[in-house]
Amino acid sequence: MSQVYSVAVVVGSLRKDSYNRKVARALGELAPSSLALKIVEIGDLPLYNEDVEANAPEAWKRFRDEIRRSDAVLFVTPEYNRSVPGGLKNAIDVGSRPYGQSAWSGKPAAVVSVSPGAIGGFGANHAVRQALVFLDMPCMQMPEAYLGGAASLFEDSGKLNDKTRPFLQAFIDKFAAWVKLNRAV
Ligand SMILES: Cc1cc2nc3c(=O)[nH]c(=O)nc-3n(C[C@H](O)[C@H](O)[C@H](O)COP(=O)(O)O)c2cc1C
Repeated sequence: MSQVYSVAVVVGSLRKDSYNRKVARALGELAPSSLALKIVEIGDLPLYNEDVEANAPEAWKRFRDEIRRSDAVLFVTPEYNRSVPGGLKNAIDVGSRPYGQSAWSGKPAAVVSVSPGAIGGFGANHAVRQALVFLDMPCMQMPEAYLGGAASLFEDSGKLNDKTRPFLQAFIDKFAAWVKLNRAV
């Protein structure tokens, strides 16, 4: 049987009707059989505080374990004030500690940003990429995924529209190749 890589999907929005969560779910459905996508929740993570590291909150441990068990990570995020939403930055920080035991190290990654605005969350997308450099996560460069006009990505039925589906299909297929390449080294 061929290898199946587990992908932790970290969604930067906590909103129930989040466009980003919908896109994350759609990517899970489009993913080829070599990838198994699972959303890893971040909404219950207490704010990072180094003082409590010795007695780390259960939610931090659960999150770190889920990231450690995954082969790759896919970030799907909105843009808040031209940068990363605080909840997502907190999750990135929680996963990166204790010092020297980062859960993220070496895991291949990609970033998708989704916004109702025209710029498609470009600022958040690149702010995440900036952190991935320091976290030593090889991040897929192309295709870039800045999805603007979020309300029009889906039809009334909830299905991706005919323009967005092939784009996301190409994106997740390329990511599957990226994961395979980077897990092999
Ligand atoms: C605090 C805050 C700041 C925001 N800043 C931006 C921004 O800088 N750029 C942008 O395109 N949208 C911005 N938005 C709008 C979000 O893109 C919009 O709420 C979007 O639907 C959030 O993604 P979600 O649907 O996945 O929750 C902001 C929203 C909030 C709540």
